[in-house]
Amino acid sequence: MIKYTTELENIQPESLQGFFVDWPNPPSPVTHLKLLNGSSHKILAIDSESGEVVGFITAISDGVLSAYIPLLEVLPAYKNNGIGKELVQRMIEELKNLYMVDLLCDDHLQPYYEKQGMMKASGMIIRNYQHQAGILE
Ligand SMILES: CC(C)(COP(=O)(O)OP(=O)(O)OC[C@H]1O[C@@H](n2cnc3c(N)ncnc32)[C@H](O)[C@@H]1OP(=O)(O)O)[C@@H](O)C(=O)NCCC(=O)NCCS
Repeated sequence: MIKYTTELENIQPESLQGFFVDWPNPPSPVTHLKLLNGSSHKILAIDSESGEVVGFITAISDGVLSAYIPLLEVLPAYKNNGIGKELVQRMIEELKNLYMVDLLCDDHLQPYYEKQGMMKASGMIIRNYQHQAGILE
């Protein structure tokens, strides 16, 4: 069974294995936990049998008008079971009092987010690839 939580108290880096699939220089589990702690909103999907985190979503918000959803991932072995959809729906619910809720995604994922009530838009980005693994200090 998959349970969903916004609490990080019982989460250790060891429970955050296998994420950032296909990232050439992925954040470590320690850095992953740090970014979860630094996000104004986070929801974890946990396999209640193993206790492992199998999916997560984060948002960063000013608490007044806007929020940005930088990260959503479900572990490969758990994909296509509705976990991603549940994480997105729970995050949209958490952010429903804000005016702007934005995320960036590849073109092939636009239908995925459209089905969940989001609209297409265009965006601009900077990527400092030398910092892809994250800043620990
Ligand atoms: C995108 C991702 C989070 C989806 O998670 P998931 O748990 O496998 O997705 P769900 O099971 O909730 O899928 C729900 C629906 O979306 C559809 N869907 C899943 N992946 C899709 C994709 N890449 N493109 C279009 N539709 C997709 C499913 O077919 C399903 O459709 P249905 O409700 O009509 O049956 C997951 O594939 C993932 O972690 N990808 C790698 C990281 C990533 O791309 N994150 C998003 C960054 S913006």
